[in-house]
Amino acid sequence: MSSQDIPEENLPAEHAGQPGAVSVADEKDPFADPGLPPHEHRIQDIDEQAAKRSERTVALLFTLSMLATVGFIAAFVAIPHDRSIFVFPIGHVSALNFALGLTLGAALFCIGAGAVHWARTLMSDAEIADERHPIEASPEVREKVHADFKQGAKESVLGRRKLIRNTMFGALTLVPLSGVVLLRDLGPLPESKLRHTLWKNGTLLVNMNTNEPLRPSDVAVGSLTFAKPEGLEEHDEEFQTEIAKAALMIVRIQPDNIKDRRELEWSHEGIVAYSKICTHVGCPISLYEQQTHHVLCPCHQSTFDLSDGARVIFGPAGHALPQLRIGVSDEGYLQALGDFAEPVGPAFWERG
Ligand code: FES
Repeated sequence: MSSQDIPEENLPAEHAGQPGAVSVADEKDPFADPGLPPHEHRIQDIDEQAAKRSERTVALLFTLSMLATVGFIAAFVAIPHDRSIFVFPIGHVSALNFALGLTLGAALFCIGAGAVHWARTLMSDAEIADERHPIEASPEVREKVHADFKQGAKESVLGRRKLIRNTMFGALTLVPLSGVVLLRDLGPLPESKLRHTLWKNGTLLVNMNTNEPLRPSDVAVGSLTFAKPEGLEEHDEEFQTEIAKAALMIVRIQPDNIKDRRELEWSHEGIVAYSKICTHVGCPISLYEQQTHHVLCPCHQSTFDLSDGARVIFGPAGHALPQLRIGVSDEGYLQALGDFAEPVGPAFWERG
């Protein structure tokens, strides 16, 4: 931009007095604030009919938003998950996803468009110049903000344009319903499923690696053996769900070294069986320190003492590991004598 393009009153002082330069009104403040241009009234400011038309347009957009939200819920309920449709130029898409995206997008767009149209045509558009001020607000400023807020509320014409107010509240109230109905996709509640595992009286303990039932002689002092319930196979549909609750770790401890009385009663010749699922957030425990009988969860280092009821001796876990009461079957195999006495895994599906 050349100096010729700059308005005369904004030219810097050094141009003053030069040949061809224009004079500046105030030499102390050559870049004087030109001020705001004169305010121009919009058609809605001077024509009540035009204001009414704008009001109806805003209300129509908010109403369309409500209809789109209702359409979203209807699509969610009515359209089967496996139906697909052809949409140019995308091609074949899931009818449900397409309908949900379209209706939710329309609901949000209409609220936004309604708010913008409202602000541009009906709210006050008087330009305001404000000086910069310190960040800390003085009591006077807070009072002014309060007054401005009240003035803004008045100028938003919410009190006078009840149609806009009501349809806007309707649209804003309905839009969150889209999120609420999606909660249905989280599936059924677990109810008491988390409290029970496949272990019951007489279920044999099967070695997780060899898939063979375990005998007491298979469990050596100092070793850590992982076991699963008899009959649970990897190709079973529910394998992951069930093993996540029933996975077991078995160690043999000299009975004299078992400090917890109930643990000793629930063991067989020093063989103890505990849930392998950490009671912090459910990682599988995998590290065993044979001298101390401590097991360590690799996720956040919770440490449990298997010689003392698997109580927590370090880390964030909130509960001891549940113990499985075991005995020996008539054929000489290790077997469960019931289910765990408490839910396995993280404490957040509380034991109560
Ligand atoms: S899951 Fe085991 S310590 Fe966090």
